[in-house]
Amino acid sequence: MESLGLRAVGSHCSLSEMDDLDLTRALDRPRLKIERKRSFDERSMSELSAGYGRHDGFHDSPRGRSVLDTPLSSARNCFEPHPMMAEAWEALRRSMVFFRGHPVGTLAAVDNTTDEVLNYDQVFVRDFVPSALAFLMNGESDIVKHFLLKTLHLQDSEKRVDRFKLGKGVMPASFKVRHDPVREKDHLIADFGETAIGRVAPVDSGFWWIILLRAYTKSTGDLTLSETPECQKGIKLILSLCLAEGFDTFPTLLCADGCSMIDRRMGVYGYPIEIQALFYMALRCALSMLKSDGDGRECIEKITKRLHALSFHMRNYFWLDHQQLNDIYRYKTEEYSHTAVNKFNVMPDSIPDWVFDFMPLRGGYFVGNVGPAHMDFRWFALGNCVSILSSLATPDQSMAIMDLLEHRWAELVGEMPLKICYPCLEGHEWRIVTGCDPKNTRWSYHNGGSWPVLLWQLTAACIKTGRPQIARRAVDLIESRLHRDCWPEYYDGKLGRYVGKQARKYQTWSIAGYLVAKMLLEDPSHIGMISLEEDKLMKPVIKRSASWPQL
Ligand code: GLC
Repeated sequence: MESLGLRAVGSHCSLSEMDDLDLTRALDRPRLKIERKRSFDERSMSELSAGYGRHDGFHDSPRGRSVLDTPLSSARNCFEPHPMMAEAWEALRRSMVFFRGHPVGTLAAVDNTTDEVLNYDQVFVRDFVPSALAFLMNGESDIVKHFLLKTLHLQDSEKRVDRFKLGKGVMPASFKVRHDPVREKDHLIADFGETAIGRVAPVDSGFWWIILLRAYTKSTGDLTLSETPECQKGIKLILSLCLAEGFDTFPTLLCADGCSMIDRRMGVYGYPIEIQALFYMALRCALSMLKSDGDGRECIEKITKRLHALSFHMRNYFWLDHQQLNDIYRYKTEEYSHTAVNKFNVMPDSIPDWVFDFMPLRGGYFVGNVGPAHMDFRWFALGNCVSILSSLATPDQSMAIMDLLEHRWAELVGEMPLKICYPCLEGHEWRIVTGCDPKNTRWSYHNGGSWPVLLWQLTAACIKTGRPQIARRAVDLIESRLHRDCWPEYYDGKLGRYVGKQARKYQTWSIAGYLVAKMLLEDPSHIGMISLEEDKLMKPVIKRSASWPQL
């Protein structure tokens, strides 16, 4: 193990919401559904549930492994470390960035085959998340702590685009360390979107920061970081950007195109699923860390109310399965007043043809976007996986998303996991929606390209839903090519068969995503770091009529 750069550690359980890790109940609930898939998942379920009945003995297992671990005998058979793991650790370590002697993050890519660096020589907040998880799972928490503190410090900087000042809570998209050889000092230079292509602030960065702070706390048991006044303030500043009252009629967050992983125009402006799922998860993580003193109490109250409204909205209006599609297909339009069924006035004629063939009888997903007269039916992998991890998806919805992935494997996973979205935009639609973006041509980059980094989220979702075999299939695909192709950023083509036209090589999150997926499969108890159990207080999906005010 040591030779792979790995330390053997288990996940610690430390936050007050300890029962997040008690997956017994989470796995119990959908058991009926799981049983119907028994032949497929038989072994994996028994592997998973073997230890989940106990969560009080994390530290007394042999070799420091968690008792929630896969039994050691089968671990030896199934989890012989793949030679790619050692290579991946080496590459990940090569990407580490230091600030005044301390590790503070990882570069987006260390591609020595090209001179065209662009901003890939920076530490991106979203890109660092899988690196951070890999380090935490390996018992190396220092780099994560320094990263959290440095980015928190950067939050304080003045941020402007021309004469316009950005909100105080905005977290950077990325930062770089510049060394001043004269004064022999390192400086941090951050980008909040003011130098990014398109000049859009990263809405996801703050959410990832909160999610990572919880992961750090959960994994190390070190409550002292999240409880510092600085961290408490940081959380509140991020959330005050989202919880402020305004003209909104929906609990979802209104966003500009390009404000998240998809950082170019792709027609996701409005209420993109990726942001809504991360928003939900960040709210829940914040709730578990905020102290209820001073203005903390008010913030907690706001969060609780928003979570209720947001989960109701998402579970009802973003959810699409065969039944729901059929209902929308038969929608009446131009309805007025509280009795409207088609509340957002979606025109059935706007349903794209592909979705009728794509939708299986069993399975479903959260659509890309819902707004006035607008439903983006595209599938987005990140938003759906995060919905499962955060329990924004109900247990039934989570299982349905997994069913869909299995059913539409060729379309959503293909030969190189995982499609960022499905299907792609082409022809006239591509011209209009992307503004003729030459990087986002059909089945490339953000437009239906395949991103290996998404493997960690898929794997985590599979483990949470008790279906690790699906992840193993995806890992096998990755292992057949990723290393040989020098860890590309993304793949192109309908099946993801070609290394992306402008893909960086040695893309750090492709490397780290693979490591996280492998470590999660090896020790499923790590899931507690990045997963939240269903909130008992949150009401299950209610019939739409129940949301109407009493007249
Ligand atoms: C690209 C991706 C973005 C990522 C960045 C660094 O801009 O779209 O999501 O953070 O590269 O890897």
